Amino acid sequence: MTLDSMFDAGSPKAETALTIRRPDDWHVHLRDGAMLKAVLPFTARQFARGIIMPNLVPPVVSVADAASYRQRILEARGADSDFQPLMTCYLTDHTSPNEIERGFAEKVWVAAKLYPAGATTNAHFGVTDIPALAPVLARMEKIGMPVLIHGEATDPAIDIFDREAAFMEAELIPLLKRHEGLKVVVEHATTAETLDIVREHRRHCAATITPHHLIINRTSIFQGGLRPHLYCLPVAKRERHRLALRKAVTSGDSCFFIGTDTAPHVRGKKEAECCSAGVFGGATALQTYIEVFDEAGALDRFEAFASENGARFYGLPLNSGTLTLHKRPDRVAVSVPVEDEEVVIFRGNEPLAWSLGEIRR
Ligand code: NCD
Ligand code: ZN
Repeated sequence: MTLDSMFDAGSPKAETALTIRRPDDWHVHLRDGAMLKAVLPFTARQFARGIIMPNLVPPVVSVADAASYRQRILEARGADSDFQPLMTCYLTDHTSPNEIERGFAEKVWVAAKLYPAGATTNAHFGVTDIPALAPVLARMEKIGMPVLIHGEATDPAIDIFDREAAFMEAELIPLLKRHEGLKVVVEHATTAETLDIVREHRRHCAATITPHHLIINRTSIFQGGLRPHLYCLPVAKRERHRLALRKAVTSGDSCFFIGTDTAPHVRGKKEAECCSAGVFGGATALQTYIEVFDEAGALDRFEAFASENGARFYGLPLNSGTLTLHKRPDRVAVSVPVEDEEVVIFRGNEPLAWSLGEIRR
């Protein structure tokens, strides 16, 4: 990693540039069809690899599904892009340990996603009884394949702001005890208590943290009125949790890494009687993360969070090329067109302090 401060001739203003090993996004919803083509360039511009979420309709449950979805992503990728999709399998009550192992051995998928049934967008085929998944998880433990968990309780009687905490106590901690050698990624952690649980089990547990949960708290969703484009799951929590997340990522702790959870939905699905959950953070992700590190005076820790911790946890090689970011004001579009609709970009048309620079392969 190199940090350069340069003085432009004739300008007293220093410009900072940070060159890091190319980063990865360990949690991406790319969707399919026209949406895939519209959103993929934003992820591919920033990240060398992405863990592709399997919650399509219908979900990616078989080796054949994942192989063909990967092929569609490679076809949608521009000719000049080297973006590598890392595929995942969607766990259901009927997943077989043998199919899981086959996809992993054939290098079709690198991990499996556990959605508690009904927890979020397209999670209705998810797992209804997590302890009953033990044979699948035991096989994953044996072959070194990580499980990626959407950690929210699904009982509608539980307050939505408490669902992550409820899940961690009732399901995650017992699961970590049952499978002491299983690699577990707690996806999109949103509470201070979840971060503590992850730290405590760091020998085999890690967490992704999204850009939007570093910027918004639950009050932001109601700022001046109801803001559907800030609604996602897990829903943003109180300010103390946002501050704990910012501290965790900038701490240099190796159990935390990027996972944008970029989750595009067209405007009509967001500005609706019943708004779909998901923030499209993919177009401004790296710029948001680096701003957080800069504000914390922790730019020297950015590369580990962006480009090293995730690959090490998954047991994958680090990327070899570099990406440069410049501390230079930028602004991205307010939305991206998808056929005759559009997806609103998180922090679109807002001043950003950093710009994306050159990629070296
Ligand atoms: C995601 C989506 O839209 O697919 N939505 C979200 O709010 N994050 C699903 C998910 O990751 O929960
Ligand atoms: Zn997600």
